[in-house]
Amino acid sequence: MSVFKENTNTSAPKFSMASPVVANDLKVYMETYGCQMNVNDSEVVMSILEQQGFEYTTVMDDADLILVNTCSIRENAEQRVRGRLNVFRLMKRKKPSLLIGVIGCMAERLKEQLLEEQKMVDLVVGPDAYRDLPQLVQQAGSGRKAVNVLLSREETYSDISPVRYDSNGISAFVSIMRGCNNMCAYCVVPYTRGGERSRDAQTILREVRELVEMGYKEVTLLGQNVDSYHWTDTYTSDEISFSRLLALVAQVSPELRVRFSTSHPKDMTDEVLYTMAKYPNICKSIHLPAQSGSTRMLEMMKRGYTREWYLGRIEAIRRIIPECAITTDIIAGFCSETEEDHQDTLSLMREVGYEFAFMFKYSERPKTYAQRKYQDDIPEEVKTRRLQEIIDVQIELSAEAKKEKLGKTFEVLIEGASKKSDDQFVGRTSQNEVVVFPRGTYSIGQYVNVKVERCTSATLIGSII
Ligand code: SAH
Ligand code: SF4
Ligand code: F3S
Repeated sequence: MSVFKENTNTSAPKFSMASPVVANDLKVYMETYGCQMNVNDSEVVMSILEQQGFEYTTVMDDADLILVNTCSIRENAEQRVRGRLNVFRLMKRKKPSLLIGVIGCMAERLKEQLLEEQKMVDLVVGPDAYRDLPQLVQQAGSGRKAVNVLLSREETYSDISPVRYDSNGISAFVSIMRGCNNMCAYCVVPYTRGGERSRDAQTILREVRELVEMGYKEVTLLGQNVDSYHWTDTYTSDEISFSRLLALVAQVSPELRVRFSTSHPKDMTDEVLYTMAKYPNICKSIHLPAQSGSTRMLEMMKRGYTREWYLGRIEAIRRIIPECAITTDIIAGFCSETEEDHQDTLSLMREVGYEFAFMFKYSERPKTYAQRKYQDDIPEEVKTRRLQEIIDVQIELSAEAKKEKLGKTFEVLIEGASKKSDDQFVGRTSQNEVVVFPRGTYSIGQYVNVKVERCTSATLIGSII
């Protein structure tokens, strides 16, 4: 059934056929899975749709259009989305005019196949085709399934100001690049997001300035490999590297905290570390995914560094920014991983002493180098056991890191009320650790000094001094 104006069904939304697409009050409900990049992309999508008269809703039952921004990184990420699509299917049965769109990495990976697999899906849109969304929604609304999964070499949505529809008004993501050229053997991202491209530095700075004017206190610069950011300014011919960009963003306001993600061990330069050390408002926290502690595994993963090189980068961080927190990603049970390789990962973790880690079982992804060339030969129960051992080590390391903070005082940015009690605030240290403390007379968005008195496994607890 059509959702357009000529439809006499009173439950159908208003939708003008005027060109360009104008969707008066057409309500969009959006769910986002996957990484921070997807969160930011959903904000870009909302901006594109709002310009055409769509309206954001948090109430699923009110929606005329449901968009699900998807992730393909592991099999279980896709399974989760399939589960949600089953729920949306039931909704569509009750309200046939409802449109359902799958966007993001899973849309890009599966393309038209998704329409065959999931009959209730009306549109499939990849990460580089979001400008086309209003028109695709219109097409789907007129009963023709709509697909655009073209990847682009240039698209960075640089001129679009993301709508921060789900934000605390304090922290925002700012995308500085898209895609990835690294082709790690296990990873689907280069296939779902295309080649790497950097965003115009001037538009990044403009967005950051706008955020500061709106009262934001923290930005996180996003890219799959921020260290390979590179932009040549068209007017001045200035070459802007990541460290330069970082400095320029830090200079926008000393009151603004600057974070970034993700650094790649093979590309992270000392220059970036010196820039971090120089500006107090660049947060002292680096996410440096190791993936494995075994050089043999790293080679098979095509990560471009050895265990020794990785530890060399850790040594540089400790030397240049002694107070810096280091976090990581680890994959358990990659193809042909031996007990010895696994022990190398555990020993690397202990040697670095990570504050936090994201830990995963290897999940074979279609089309990747590993899927084409290697056997996914580690039995599920071995993967599970190794992952558990990795998690156990990290629990110990995180607890040690927390204990070291006891009795010390940290500058904390107040981000909101604590989930457990309105009398408590929650905020973060420069090292990205969560701190809970009694609110006193302060308000959200302020910086306070908090002395840490106690801790749980995930949280520091203290009071303002
Ligand atoms: N660009 C970032 C992270 C991208 S994906 C980087 O290079 O570090 C986030 C994490 O998911 C990766 O760091 C990796 O640990 C994990 N991951 C990626 N592909 C995976 C797969 N096939 N199976 C299990 N974990 C995977
Ligand atoms: Fe994937 Fe490697 Fe690119 Fe990260 S750097 S997105 S793990 S290919
Ligand atoms: Fe997932 Fe795509 Fe991000 S695969 S992790 S949403 S880049």
